[in-house]
Amino acid sequence: MQIDLDTFSAMFDGPDLREVSFLGGRPRFVLRSSMFERDELESLCATARAIRSLDAHEQGARLLERVLHRKRVLHLFAQPSTRTCESFATATARLGGSARVLQDLSATSFVKGETIRDTAQVWAASFDLLVLRHPDDRFVLQCAHSLALGPHTMPMISAGTGTLEHPTQGLLDVFTLLDSLGSLDGRSVAIVGDTSRNRCARSLATLLSRFEQIRIAFVSPPEFEPEQALLESLTARGVRVELHHHLGPLLAAHGESLDAIYVTRLQQEWDEGEAALLGTSPGLVLDPGYRRFLRPSCRILHPLPRVNELPTEWDDHPGFLIWDQVRNGIWARAALIATLVGADAGLREATGA
Ligand code: ASP
Ligand code: CP
Repeated sequence: MQIDLDTFSAMFDGPDLREVSFLGGRPRFVLRSSMFERDELESLCATARAIRSLDAHEQGARLLERVLHRKRVLHLFAQPSTRTCESFATATARLGGSARVLQDLSATSFVKGETIRDTAQVWAASFDLLVLRHPDDRFVLQCAHSLALGPHTMPMISAGTGTLEHPTQGLLDVFTLLDSLGSLDGRSVAIVGDTSRNRCARSLATLLSRFEQIRIAFVSPPEFEPEQALLESLTARGVRVELHHHLGPLLAAHGESLDAIYVTRLQQEWDEGEAALLGTSPGLVLDPGYRRFLRPSCRILHPLPRVNELPTEWDDHPGFLIWDQVRNGIWARAALIATLVGADAGLREATGA
């Protein structure tokens, strides 16, 4: 029986999320970070670690290249990207696949009135995996719906969907934190920025909630606090959540107890007029003077790009992990792709992990 688009879409935001996101035990539509539970995150991180070590020598690199041998990946980026696009394309290449990057939808037959349904079928006839960044969740769901209906099909990964989700950024952030801290249980993290529209902040918070005794202090302008549904889903998972509007007082009082600060940019591309000016207010800037409030081991992360909220004076802080995040994006995305095609266990075994 064929399922209509509205019913299919609703499955991504309710109890059927895992049923619609996995097929035969493997991820099929990676659109919501909440599809992953802790054991899956730990397995993805172990695979990312295995891929990183295999990639470091010739024999390992040859093994990696078998994962996507003769497979083609379409990277469709309908919004700007520097990191995500390049790291997906690099991950595809490291796994032996060929990457096609398409950024200009106006160069496709959409402009002639072709539907998303037909277009996705054409893509699925030519490619083995779709990586999609798009401003509109409805577009993303329509693509997934078409792929679910077939006859041509392939898995699909969100590379950033509107203000809603950036599941692979969340995954690489968890990988970076786990790699650096060793474990995430009992950790305290401050997430700074407009947490209602920053898809990285939202996806990371959701994935952190898969660990035990997590504390998250959101620091955002009052108008961009995380929305109620996200807060409820976090507290339902046992996360202790606090809301703040200024970094200074929070760090002066509790900076010593923070394990990580995740700074993000205000998402001003969604604004109009004066509000669209770049940069954030002093209360949300990680001022270099705040170093005295933090332990030297406090990790400093940012999904990038940064504007004024994370000054370059932080770049020599011992916990500064921004460039690790960028590099880890390749391994985390390669791990997800390897898991999608069922090659992950073999890669882990090859390194004894
Ligand atoms: N690059 C990230 C994203 O696309 C974060 C940002 O742009 O602020 O969501
Ligand atoms: N972090 C991130 O998504 O960066 P890009 O927007 O440059 O891909």
